Amino acid sequence: MFKVGILTASDKGYVGQREDVSGKVIDEIMTSNEYEVIYYKILPDEREMLSNELIKMCDDLNLDLILTTGGTGFSPRDWTPEATLDVIHRETPGISEAMRYYSLGITPKAMLSRGVSGIRNSTLIINLPGSPKAVKENLEYILPALKHGLEILKGIASECAAKN
Ligand code: MTE
Repeated sequence: MFKVGILTASDKGYVGQREDVSGKVIDEIMTSNEYEVIYYKILPDEREMLSNELIKMCDDLNLDLILTTGGTGFSPRDWTPEATLDVIHRETPGISEAMRYYSLGITPKAMLSRGVSGIRNSTLIINLPGSPKAVKENLEYILPALKHGLEILKGIASECAAKN
């Protein structure tokens, strides 16, 4: 079972003014798909706090996968992609491109998510948008390929099968 951490970026959620439904949606989806959610954190939309937390989640907790939600849009307080780029060693643009490509078939507003994804050591970090609806749509779309990517990252699978 892959170990998952959830990081929610939300000023209102952090001070208790808004329930973090998106974090719960991630937890439900991952748990019902045989991932083990072992860590959850909610932080305000502060770049340095987010990047420090991501480093801790990768280096100290040794998570296999970190799913962030929120802070990917155009608001002056949206810094999650930058916080992620601050800590990753290698980008995984295909994941973020695929989410936007699929999401554009649902809403043109999908182009407004600046979410990125990438690898720090052996942890994969993926930015999801903030709304519960967007989280569900994006996460369920990437799930079929995600497990294989994590298996390669962890050295469990060494290469892609010839026919897929
Ligand atoms: N992607 C999907 N699949 N479904 C959505 O409803 N909402 C979009 C976009 N991506 C959406 C989506 C909207 S309205 C915004 S503003 C951006 O995600 C950024 O969201 P965030 O700032 O909450 O991270």
